[in-house]
Amino acid sequence: MSVFVSNLLEGKAAFVTGGGSGIGAGIAKRLAKQGAKVAVLGRKLEKLEAVAKEITLAGGTALALAADVRDYPALEKAVNDAAAAFGRLDILVNSAAGNFLAPAAALSANGFKSVIDIDLCGTFNASRAAFQHLAKQGGTIVSITATQAFVATPLQCHAGAAKAGIEKLTRDLALEWARMGIRVNAVAPGPIAGTEGMSRLAPPGASDETLRKMVPLSRWGTIDEVCEAVIFLVSPAGAYMTGATLLLDGGTSLLGPGPFLDMMGG
Ligand code: NAP
Ligand code: COA
Repeated sequence: MSVFVSNLLEGKAAFVTGGGSGIGAGIAKRLAKQGAKVAVLGRKLEKLEAVAKEITLAGGTALALAADVRDYPALEKAVNDAAAAFGRLDILVNSAAGNFLAPAAALSANGFKSVIDIDLCGTFNASRAAFQHLAKQGGTIVSITATQAFVATPLQCHAGAAKAGIEKLTRDLALEWARMGIRVNAVAPGPIAGTEGMSRLAPPGASDETLRKMVPLSRWGTIDEVCEAVIFLVSPAGAYMTGATLLLDGGTSLLGPGPFLDMMGG
């Protein structure tokens, strides 16, 4: 249940990378619920079409576009296609990402590079491709980062470096593009229930109860709660915010790396 009125984004058009699953799919559906036309992009068309269908069945307008965010020409074409189909582009959400647990000493150069390419370069690529459309009437970008951007976290140096890069990119683009009427912000979620990220990254063997004790607010976050933060940032309520990263982690980062420390061994 949203705290925002349902027609908040009426007449707007949005593009969501990683919109075929998890947090990105939740954001795409919420943007549509608030009245925006929404394009979802990822590598697997089937997942994207399922999200687009859900949006259209609920009375919204959606487009499913398959491309890899590392492939700039393909991504730029998808962004241009969405802008042409909707007649404009007002909102870009960068949610596409890849992550896995791997000790730095065993991580291959290509493993590190793959995550940097998807998360950091993918975020630049989508922002760069969307720029000309957002600049027409003003617009807004929100990138999904993570607490690994600033909490030293074992087994995730690749994702931590990528997300830290995105948060710096957020501030630089916010500065460069402010005069063009483009606001650029980020949301850094903590552990969000029912997501691919949680199933890949939660320490194996630890019970839900044990893990919840590591969150000061004593529960996982929800996809809905990430959506609320994104809607706030893209709506008139966030009109004076740019270059910011909203932390949404139930206080987890206040405690440092928490359960991940036990996974280092030694
Ligand atoms: P997810 O469902 O796996 O979402 C990631 C999406 O990115 C997938 O739909 C995937 O689709 C797409 N993607 C991956 N590589 C891509 C590429 N090269 N090109 C285009 N699309 C690509 O995971 P999630 O847990 O919801 O995570 C969503 C975002 O939230 C990520 O940025 C993640 O870092 C962030 N986050 C998650 C949590 C959490 O607790 N889950 C916490 C903090 C931050 P395809 O595989 O079909 O391409
Ligand atoms: N541990 C160590 N290295 C790993 C790994 C793991 N679990 N998974 C992949 N890698 C390495 C591979 O070995 C490869 O390196 P190499 O060529 O030196 O062997 C490199 O990463 C690229 O692997 P590949 O499978 O070709 O990458 P991809 O581009 O197809 O996929 C990933 C990207 C690896 C990030 C993949 O996990 C993915 O697509 N994830 C998307 C979904 C996701 O992670 N969601 C959670 C978001 S928080």
